[in-house]
Parts: sequence; structure tokens; C-alpha cells
Amino acid sequence: MAEKNKATPKITTRIMNEEDISGVLDIDKKIRGPKRAITYADPVNDYIGGVVGISVVARAGDQVVGVIMGRLVNLFPHGTTGAWIEVLGIDPGWQGHGIGVKLMKAFETHCRKKGAHHINMLTLPHDDILKPFFESQGFTASRFIQLEKNIA
Ligand SMILES: CC(C)(COP(=O)(O)OP(=O)(O)OC[C@H]1O[C@@H](n2cnc3c(N)ncnc32)[C@H](O)[C@@H]1OP(=O)(O)O)[C@@H](O)C(=O)NCCC(=O)NCCS
Repeated sequence: MAEKNKATPKITTRIMNEEDISGVLDIDKKIRGPKRAITYADPVNDYIGGVVGISVVARAGDQVVGVIMGRLVNLFPHGTTGAWIEVLGIDPGWQGHGIGVKLMKAFETHCRKKGAHHINMLTLPHDDILKPFFESQGFTASRFIQLEKNIA
């Protein structure tokens, strides 16, 4: 595991672009073992390779240290726009510096500008990394549950 950076770094956020992809993949590789949210142990969808327009990265200088990957969806039949978070990850060496919260704020601001009315994300009910973090950021259980059928 990477060592924690001692000094509080100057962190900037911006919309993710193509040059951030390798940094995002590096974070994904680094988060292993108990540091990895169980929701992302075996993701249902590949989250890299889609549209990156709604994704936000945090950077320390040139290094990508955090990412929220998301997408916008138009909701039928009401025609409202919502946002989905596909993945959230902070480089293990940079966790605990407020980067997760900063990224969430930047993502929210960006989604609002794009006309989104709400943000959704999926978590396993017993994920003790992701669930409490999102709850601390104002997320509550949706009135919908997800249904699925295996057709393989
Ligand atoms: C959960 C995660 C996003 C938190 O990011 P972070 O940058 O370390 O969190 P922050 O420093 O912004 O935390 C801010 C606040 O949230 C709290 N917090 C952080 N993680 C928390 C958690 N899991 N549960 C409850 N609170 C949490 C902190 O205590 C802090 O509160 P405070 O300001 O009152 O002290 C980060 O731990 C992470 O990326 N985990 C791994 C996710 C993963 O597996 N991704 C894989 C795909 S890349």
C-alpha cells in the first residue's frame, strides 16, 4: 500500500478527459484487499470506456489522485435528467485528505449545470466503505429496488 502523504496537498478538480484515463486505471489497480469497496470487487459493468463527459478527477499536480465516473440519464416517462455514479476511487496514498468530499461537491456542481435533478449510485447493503461515505454525503436509500434475472 502507498504511504500516506504527510502534508495536505493542493488538490484541484476538473472534468475528466482522455489524458486522465491511465491515472484512473492506476488508482483502480492500487485499491486492493480490504481498502477496496466490496461493491467494486466484481463490477457488473466495465466503467472505463464509456462517455467521460460527466466524470470528474482530482489531481495533485499532474497526478490523478481521485475519480468519480458517472453518466447522465434521461428518465422515462417524466423526461427529467439524473446522474449515475459508476465508480468512486481515491488513491490509497491520498485518502483521508478530504478529496472524496471535494470530488463529490465538484461532481454535484457539474451534474446540476447539466440539468440533473438527482444522483444515484448502487452499493451492496453491507459495503462498509462506500455506503457510510455516501450516507455522510446526504445519500439515502431510494424507494426503488433493483431487480435482475440471470439469462446466461
Ligand atoms: C470512500 C472514499 C471515497 C473516501 O475518500 P477520502 O478522500 O478518503 O475521504 P475524505 O477524506 O474526503 O473523507 C471526508 C469525510 O468522510 C469521512 N469518511 C471517509 N470515508 C468514510 C467511510 N468509509 N465511512 C464513513 N465516513 C467516511 C471521513 O471521516 C471524513 O469525515 P470528517 O471530515 O468529518 O473527518 C475512499 O476511501 C475510497 O476511494 N475508497 C475505495 C473505493 C474503491 O474501492 N474504489 C475502487 C474503484 S477505483
